[in-house]
Amino acid sequence: MDATSRPAVVIDNGTGYSKMGFAGNVEPCFITPTVVAVNDSFLNQSRSSSKGNWSAQYSAGVMADLDFFIGDEAISRSRSSSTYNLSYPIQNGQVENWDTMERFWQQCIYNYLRCDPEDHYFLLTESPLTAPENREYTGEIMFETFNVPGLYIAVQPVLALAAGYTTSKCEMTGVVVDVGEGATHIVPVAEGYVIGSSIKSIPISGKDVTQFVQQLLKERGEHIPPEDSFEVARKVKEMYCYTCSDIVKEYNKHDKEPSKYIKQFSGTKPKTGAPYSCDIGYERFLGPEIFFHPEIYSSDFTTPLPTVIDKCIQSAPIDTRRALYKNVVLSGGSTMFKDFHRRLQRDLKKIVDTRIVAAEAWHGGEVKSQPIEVNVVSHPIQRFAVWFGGSVLASTPEFYGACHTKAEYEEYGASICRTNPIFKGMF
Ligand SMILES: Nc1ncnc2c1ncn2[C@@H]1O[C@H](COP(=O)(O)OP(=O)(O)OP(=O)(O)O)[C@@H](O)[C@H]1O
Ligand SMILES: [Mg+2]
Repeated sequence: MDATSRPAVVIDNGTGYSKMGFAGNVEPCFITPTVVAVNDSFLNQSRSSSKGNWSAQYSAGVMADLDFFIGDEAISRSRSSSTYNLSYPIQNGQVENWDTMERFWQQCIYNYLRCDPEDHYFLLTESPLTAPENREYTGEIMFETFNVPGLYIAVQPVLALAAGYTTSKCEMTGVVVDVGEGATHIVPVAEGYVIGSSIKSIPISGKDVTQFVQQLLKERGEHIPPEDSFEVARKVKEMYCYTCSDIVKEYNKHDKEPSKYIKQFSGTKPKTGAPYSCDIGYERFLGPEIFFHPEIYSSDFTTPLPTVIDKCIQSAPIDTRRALYKNVVLSGGSTMFKDFHRRLQRDLKKIVDTRIVAAEAWHGGEVKSQPIEVNVVSHPIQRFAVWFGGSVLASTPEFYGACHTKAEYEEYGASICRTNPIFKGMF
């Protein structure tokens, strides 16, 4: 059976989580933290073994290559034993440690998806600001180490746009607001092509919301074991946080009816196993508020997300702007807060309307502008929109023709991986 008649493997590696599965499926088979636990004792042994004792050095090296874990298993190993150290290969959307990344892929393919990489084409994703050299490294690892027959590296926001493919008529023009664990990118796309010069990123993402919630809980004096406080804050954030329409009103609502709004979180202390519980109050709406009032979190960056989206669209070619305002698509786990899309739509519309009113006043009220439609699109698969878009595109017949093949790689080298063509299935 030829590899083009088998479903392609689709892997979206994020800073926080990796989503993996097969093309044509609606959901990824696994969503697992992008982390590797390596046994340090073998690594140190292989480095420190005396020069003459090459066999000890060799076997320690082999053991180091075999004795590692990824994802949730890596986290639990590192908790229960001090010999395993955690390594996060992706930072702020970019691969920082290729050795660890290769180990991570190895387990994804053989232990999770349980497939032979030589039998499947692969679709991988990358952040919009990835350097072309990184694509070459990815290509080298995929073709040399895993011997894949074909590879396509897609830009994450383009896939998020393609995720709308089956839900409505496919629009390959729009602005993707991708808010993950370690990166927030606002990316305008016209007819499937990223408008590179207008991409904006902001230094606030999911891990900042977690840190802010963690800080608020600590300041209020909630008794949470310090070694667990980040994890507790993350759970609290994912379970209870929501976006409000106005902070002052929300404070009042909480104060009037605390029993309606205050939630309880219970856990057990990791060291002693003793149970504890804490109250969750204002954190619920203050966490996601850092996207709309970043100054409450840090004085280094103070531009609200809706303003950045507006700036992004205003810097795009003038003939694309109306279509961009009409299709602002959300993607990534940190856009999942209840009512996030409503608030974004309202604030963005306010900015656009204010500009129109100002322009009309400038013309002395003689010129009437056409109203601009602002649409922030929310959909049920937001959490893994990038993966889903990849799954849809990699199941079109044109996909196999757009991939770089092993034969091409051998003939022309890794530089072919620098670009990946837009293909017909995208429209
Ligand atoms: N229901 C939820 N509500 C709010 N936040 C959530 C929810 N579920 C997950 N998250 C957050 O979403 C983030 C993970 O999202 P995602 O998987 O899109 O990121 P990623 O792809 O790993 O990272 P990046 O795209 O930044 O490289 C984490 O910060 C997680 O805590
Ligand atoms: Mg992501």
